[in-house]
Amino acid sequence: MCRDERERPNEPNQEISVKNAELKSRKDAATPRGVGVMCDFYAARAENAELWDIEGRRVIDFAAGIAVCNTGHRHPKIVEAVRAQLDQFTHTAYQIVPYASYVELAEKINQRAPGDYPKKTAFFTTGAEAVENAIKIARAATGRPGVIAFTGAFHGRTMMGMALTGKVAPYKLNFGPFPADVFHAPFPNPLHGVTTADSLKAIEHLFKADIDPKRVAAIIFEPVQGEGGFYPAPAEFVRALRKLCNEHGILLIADEVQTGFARTGKLFAMHHYDVVPDLMTMAKSLAGGLPLSGVVGRADLMDAAAPGGLGGTYAGNPLAVAAAHAVLSIIDEEKLCERAVELGDRLKGRLSALQAEVPQMADVRGPGGMVAVEFCKPGTSEPDADFTKRVQTRALERGLLLLVCGVYSNVIRFLFPLTIQDAVFDEALAILEDALKETVGVAA
Ligand SMILES: Cc1ncc(COP(=O)(O)O)c(C=O)c1O
Repeated sequence: MCRDERERPNEPNQEISVKNAELKSRKDAATPRGVGVMCDFYAARAENAELWDIEGRRVIDFAAGIAVCNTGHRHPKIVEAVRAQLDQFTHTAYQIVPYASYVELAEKINQRAPGDYPKKTAFFTTGAEAVENAIKIARAATGRPGVIAFTGAFHGRTMMGMALTGKVAPYKLNFGPFPADVFHAPFPNPLHGVTTADSLKAIEHLFKADIDPKRVAAIIFEPVQGEGGFYPAPAEFVRALRKLCNEHGILLIADEVQTGFARTGKLFAMHHYDVVPDLMTMAKSLAGGLPLSGVVGRADLMDAAAPGGLGGTYAGNPLAVAAAHAVLSIIDEEKLCERAVELGDRLKGRLSALQAEVPQMADVRGPGGMVAVEFCKPGTSEPDADFTKRVQTRALERGLLLLVCGVYSNVIRFLFPLTIQDAVFDEALAILEDALKETVGVAA
């Protein structure tokens, strides 16, 4: 089915009598504030790139469940695959009674992940869990404790995930102490005056001041920092990391939790680089809305952990695995890598054309459909979080759901489903343009 033929319901298919305001006060009473919630409306139904709340209001979803629905909400093929699996079995615990679909998915990932060497894949449930396990595997394989991560990085909310994350508030606030032997170097960010040479120098300095490189198990990085602000890792930086790792016997881990599954215009963002990582994490759009994550890597490294050392009760859940098979087929059949580039170019073109009218727009960037716009005080590189928030709020008032990111919360990231219909995409771009112009005070 082509994306423009996809069903577009006008209202929720079920009568829900409860109202958003009532649910909000019940939420505040029943759930902790630490589970921060962005929207004040509650989901009733979603289809491809549109979402309806319980009062029947429609929004165009450029958040996609935080990069989870690259294949859109409820893609018919995913729904069909999960339904078929529901009729077979929903859970056996793969480590107790295994199933073929897990093995077949591992084979597909091994074949398609970067690197011309024998690979193995293990599945988990969340992105943070994939990161945890990548570090476990790296430590088991090298016999070393140290890990180097980068400022601005986001690697999850578990203890090791937090330790690796390079942004304090809100992720690390009041939750320490964190696991030891984790060090941070600055991530290259030319817009804010950090060059690749600066980052590499900082790593060399870590080796002198904090940890002997022979005690470092892994360097973990995001090919495009996600939560940190959609900053792509420069090619020369990734090449230099690979060289550094080779020199010191350190493993290179690419965290592709947010960048994977066609978002950047390739199946994995590492396909944009001429170097390959030793281990790679994935999650989010892997299973199109069902919880599934994975670690793929060199077979010898992946086998370093002893039997029983990896896994989890729900790890590689059969419903999620069925969805992931459908996701991989959809990406091929609907040419979603090409579509990511096409949509990303259209969005970047539209934003760039507005730069003269919106002086706060300091940068428009991102590979494929992993696009972001960064706002700074006009003529400076001083982050403008207030302007960013106002654009986001205005867009939402007009029916477009956008996400903010960046260490200074001054970046809007666009995570539209890559299956979005052209008409819905154009409608979203018009809303975005209006929101930008209105926020800057130019008559829309
Ligand atoms: C690069 C990266 N790693 C890890 C995570 C953690 O994933 P999860 O929230 O599924 O635990 C995220 C989540 O945004 C991410 O973007």
